[in-house]
Amino acid sequence: MTHRILFVCLGNICRSPAAEGAFRARAPHHMTDSAGTSGWHIEEPPYGPMQAAAGARGIDLSDLRARKFVAEDFDQFDLIVGMDAENIRNIEALRPAGNETPVRLLTDFAPETGADHVPDPYYTRDFDGALDLIEAAVAGLDAHLRA
Ligand code: 4NP
Repeated sequence: MTHRILFVCLGNICRSPAAEGAFRARAPHHMTDSAGTSGWHIEEPPYGPMQAAAGARGIDLSDLRARKFVAEDFDQFDLIVGMDAENIRNIEALRPAGNETPVRLLTDFAPETGADHVPDPYYTRDFDGALDLIEAAVAGLDAHLRA
């Protein structure tokens, strides 16, 4: 079955495009996109150091461009996946009345990691650590969707 899944972070240049890229590489039959709760980087490609770290793992992010998360996304996707609690709050603040689209933390799909969010590598500079978490979690998400 094809699902429509939206990955969301703050800037839409590090974590959510990496999650989209890692997930679509594993499960290309789904419809995916990513967005940022801020509009700071609209139309920009993913951040260079993240593209390089992902590319080293065979994950190509070069076609992705940043956009802002909008309320209409609740109607366009079956599942919205945020990277941290602040993302989830900013997403939920735009939920239309009556909409029941699930909004989950990406790390919910990787309980074995013990992580409760994906630390922002734009600040931590740990792009590989973020990708380790993201790859574990998209594997869990893929398994969840197949179950
Ligand atoms: P992201 O990382 O939310 O994973 O895309 C960020 C990228 C840029 C900024 C913040 C977070 N920024 O402040 O420009």
